[in-house]
Amino acid sequence: MCKLIAIAVILIVGLSWTCYGGRIRKICNGHGRSRMHRNYTCCQNSGTGGWTPQPILPDHRCCPGSGRTFSESENQVCDNGRIREKTNPDETMCGVLLPYNVNSQVCCKTNITTARVYDKVPNGQCCNHDYLTDDSIRCCGGQTYDILNQTCCNSSETDTGVRLYNISNGKCCNDRPYDQTRQECNSDLEVVSRRTIKYCQDQPYNSLLNGCCVIDLYVKGAQLCHHETGTIITNP
Ligand SMILES: *[C@@H]1O[C@H](CO)[C@@H](O)[C@H](O)[C@H]1NC(C)=O
Ligand SMILES: *[C@@H]1O[C@H](CO)[C@@H](O)[C@H](O)[C@H]1NC(C)=O
Ligand SMILES: *[C@@H]1O[C@H](CO)[C@@H](O)[C@H](O)[C@H]1NC(C)=O
Ligand SMILES: *[C@@H]1O[C@H](CO)[C@@H](O)[C@H](O)[C@H]1NC(C)=O
Ligand SMILES: *[C@@H]1O[C@H](CO)[C@@H](O)[C@H](O)[C@H]1NC(C)=O
Repeated sequence: MCKLIAIAVILIVGLSWTCYGGRIRKICNGHGRSRMHRNYTCCQNSGTGGWTPQPILPDHRCCPGSGRTFSESENQVCDNGRIREKTNPDETMCGVLLPYNVNSQVCCKTNITTARVYDKVPNGQCCNHDYLTDDSIRCCGGQTYDILNQTCCNSSETDTGVRLYNISNGKCCNDRPYDQTRQECNSDLEVVSRRTIKYCQDQPYNSLLNGCCVIDLYVKGAQLCHHETGTIITNP
């Protein structure tokens, strides 16, 4: 009975009210004069290629493409433009078009229209609509990047507060990126060339490769220095 009345109302509404540009309006004389109907909304209808007026009901929203509204609290989901019963009580919506299971899946979204569903992975993280599951792939202000190729540092110049640089495996010195192999961040938080040349007694050496064991050089990695006695031993 209620349904019949609702359909009748839509038919009546359909006569004087119409969806125009996605909004429900009363078009007067075909000229620009129009006003909004408070109690109806317009749902996209891929069947007609247009919009269909729908009564605004509590807890209901449009399922884009179906021309109808649905309600999650009434056990419905919108599955790519088709309204269907939930197959599982854990099902809910990801954006406007994708149902997903909150226990086994994750919803990553940039906004309600750009959303994707992924199977949950331990330590997985959303980066806008992407899902990061690889240690070397990180998120920089909503953009994914590979730490092997790029470096993300804080920035006061971008809306996201961070900025991506094409510096492979770099680090940040305050807001500035630097190349760890050639540069370092000093105690004043300035990027300076890495001081690789040091002195052992009077002998210069490359501190990236060698160390100074009191008076003698040793090879980092391959050898170890016992600083108390100045003995160099092979790294077991
Ligand atoms: C909308 O619904 C309210 C309450 O049901 C009613 O008073 C009002 O007249 C309706 N508005 C329109 C434009 O039909
Ligand atoms: C959602 O995000 C996508 C990708 O950034 C963008 O193209 C689209 O315009 C956005 N849509 C809305 C409704 O903001
Ligand atoms: C990062 O660089 C490696 C090679 O160094 C390359 O194979 C890979 O495609 C690059 N990744 C991206 C996201 O550009
Ligand atoms: C960073 O690298 C990418 C691809 O390797 C390139 O498209 C982009 O222009 C580069 N950005 C800068 C700031 O050099
Ligand atoms: C970037 O800024 C955040 C918040 O202000 C801060 O917690 C974080 O330590 C900063 N990162 C770097 C590398 O400076």
